[in-house]
Amino acid sequence: MTDDMIDLSDRPAPFEPFERSGTTGSLAASDNPPVSPPWSGVRRGPLVAGERVAITDPKGRRHSVLLASGKQFHSTKGLIDHDDLIGGPEGVVVNTSLGVPHIVTRPALEEFTVSMPRGATVIYPKDASYILMYTDIFPGARVLEAGAGSGGLSISILRAIGADGRLYSYERRADFALIAAKNVEQFFGAPHPAWHVTVGDLVETYGGEKVDRVVLDMLAPWECVGLAHQALVPGGWLCVYVATTTQMGRTMDTIRAHGGWVEPRSVEINVREWHAEGLAIRPGHAGRGHTGFIIHARRLADGVQAPLKRRRPAPGAYGEDYDGPRPREIELYNSYDPQDR
Ligand SMILES: C[S@@+](CC[C@H](N)C(=O)[O-])C[C@H]1O[C@@H](n2cnc3c(N)ncnc32)[C@H](O)[C@@H]1O
Repeated sequence: MTDDMIDLSDRPAPFEPFERSGTTGSLAASDNPPVSPPWSGVRRGPLVAGERVAITDPKGRRHSVLLASGKQFHSTKGLIDHDDLIGGPEGVVVNTSLGVPHIVTRPALEEFTVSMPRGATVIYPKDASYILMYTDIFPGARVLEAGAGSGGLSISILRAIGADGRLYSYERRADFALIAAKNVEQFFGAPHPAWHVTVGDLVETYGGEKVDRVVLDMLAPWECVGLAHQALVPGGWLCVYVATTTQMGRTMDTIRAHGGWVEPRSVEINVREWHAEGLAIRPGHAGRGHTGFIIHARRLADGVQAPLKRRRPAPGAYGEDYDGPRPREIELYNSYDPQDR
């Protein structure tokens, strides 16, 4: 253990780590075996003190509650004793002291990440789910992530790679790294064996790990494009999450100017919920505004440069007002005599 790693070993796990099932592919005869799938964050069996539940009121408002013996959940609609829930199943409807029914369930990964304590803003589930699929994150993968922030994306990555993968998370703020560590531990029930956190700036503290995937969610990801190329195996994927169009443009052009990548692609994910009751079928009123842009690029083999693009950029795209990184072909285009074409 080095100084820049977080030591969680002297803190008790909030509840017992899950049992490993040992064998693959075999389920117990019961429909709902009490053994939780290893490192899934999914719990089965009766509710226990130390785990988080979602308590939903009749208007659909969800409250995230950490169960503790002797404690009570309070709201304007009355109170619920935690001891009435501990030892019982999830999916129950309980009345508050004022007789208002509330539904009690275990939070899914999506609910957990949006309601957990946070320092930095988390990547929202609609974006995290796209990132997992399009960065092709697989069981056993070695992934480098920066910054860890509140650990929102770290939890999704750890669940996808499993105990046999490796997630190297870099976070330059020690206070955020600690929040991330607590959230990861709370979700999985114990410190995750595949997780390695380094507190420090990625460029300054990079440990030389070779990885299959790199995911950057930070203010200036273009500063880390060269490092990502160094860390990735040939064919590995780089995913960058940014909030603004200026960050997106600078990152895309830095990747192009570097040359060692397949042409990058940038998307924004829009999800629209629908209301469907009888004949009243229409788009829902609730909607989330802009969250961010997701950029993907694939690393080429060592010494290989991307082929020059045959399509010319729009006039003025890289004109005299542009002062960012320039793709290689721009200078070539500018040096062509139009008569030669
Ligand atoms: C938006 S947050 C990441 C949120 C995270 N993806 C989540 O879902 O919880 C961005 C984080 O990047 C960290 N950061 C920014 N630049 C960094 C760098 N060069 N090296 C390491 N961490 C960095 C910041 O301290 C911040 O915590």
